Amino acid sequence: MPSNPGPSPRQTSAVCSGDFVLLLFVSPPPICCSSWWGGVQMGPPDPILGVSEAFKRDTSPKKMNLGVGAYRDDHGKPFVLDCVRKAEALISSKQLDKEYLAIGGLGDFTKSCALLALGADSEVLKSGRNITVQTISGTGSLCIGANFLSRFHSASRDVYLPKPSWGNHTPIFRDAGMQLKAYRYYDPSTCGFDFNGALDDISKMPEKSVIMLHACAHNPTGVDPKPEQWKEIADLVKKRDLLVFFDMAYQGFASGDIDRDAWAVRHFIEQGHNIVLSQSFAKNMGLYGERVGGFTVVCNDAEEVKRVESQLKILIRPIYSNPPMNGARIAATILNTPDLYKIWLGEVHGMANRIIKMREQLAANLKSEGSTHNWQHVIDQIGMFCFTGLKPEQVERLTKEFSVYMTKDGRISMAGVTSGNVGYLAHGIHAVTK
Ligand code: LMR
Repeated sequence: MPSNPGPSPRQTSAVCSGDFVLLLFVSPPPICCSSWWGGVQMGPPDPILGVSEAFKRDTSPKKMNLGVGAYRDDHGKPFVLDCVRKAEALISSKQLDKEYLAIGGLGDFTKSCALLALGADSEVLKSGRNITVQTISGTGSLCIGANFLSRFHSASRDVYLPKPSWGNHTPIFRDAGMQLKAYRYYDPSTCGFDFNGALDDISKMPEKSVIMLHACAHNPTGVDPKPEQWKEIADLVKKRDLLVFFDMAYQGFASGDIDRDAWAVRHFIEQGHNIVLSQSFAKNMGLYGERVGGFTVVCNDAEEVKRVESQLKILIRPIYSNPPMNGARIAATILNTPDLYKIWLGEVHGMANRIIKMREQLAANLKSEGSTHNWQHVIDQIGMFCFTGLKPEQVERLTKEFSVYMTKDGRISMAGVTSGNVGYLAHGIHAVTK
């Protein structure tokens, strides 16, 4: 709509008062007084990323951002992995072109992305039963996955998410036209896994429904099933004939070991589940802003792969045409260069270990502050997040009085805790929970 500067003020009337004549100048109403967007209502800030915006506005020198899950080093600084710097230098030295990637992304990347998840011994890889496309990190992968299900999983619209699940799962599946359902997962009374509740709910899911499983380092609770529990879940899911959607955003971050963290995914596949899988390289390679991820569909055979691939391309093309290359080149270089791969494994291990250490220190500091609550779950939970059990009003106090920023559900990103601020955090948590 062209902007209209509006007419200049003009005299509209004169008022006589004794010897004075008062001239009134009044602006006429603008010619165009309606707006295209007058009906757009103010929306709420994002429950996770909105926390960072509030954090930035705070001027306290003690402020801590434990909202978004982004790794920090022990000085609280964003961490660029050494293997990433080295890969960048290698790529830069090759003076590569900037042509479009294929719709499904960089082949070197998608192959190694699938290999990382499924493992070198994977029968699926050997028999060519997977199609893996490069995506805009984990969110983009889930979005392509959700839309693929919406278009082709005609047997059911129901997607069962663990309760609770990552906040972005709901809008992703809802916007794709799927029906959101939930199954019991977290038990607030133990701050642990509600195994019986989960089994009970899964046993009642209608056949062909979709079940979302977090492969490791469950977000937001940090609570994962144990291998024996995964086995039972896999059997039951098979009995119910459910389609499994694995979200693996933290491979390596849970235990520090990429194979151990992929155990559940590989077990389900070995048990005959033709899963779909989302992967992200934001956390385990620290490639947050590069937006690198993958979406995999395990098919019945190579012929099915071809058909599914063709439809994934048709889905992707009108959304973003083809994915960006820089992050995929970095990830592919790391995964395909033995020296860099070795450095990467060490760095993933290092990040996971620092988080584990911070969990122990937080629990110890809470104890020395004099807290009599049981904080064992801080140590037992795994991955980037700790689901503290803090109530919304306690979270609010922690933010207002201590400038500690976190999501309202009581989740803290352990990756933002350092040796320098863990004592202050424990002091704040104790103050609002006594
Ligand atoms: C988180 O849960 O904090 C991360 O997965 C980042 C995000 O995009 O929400």
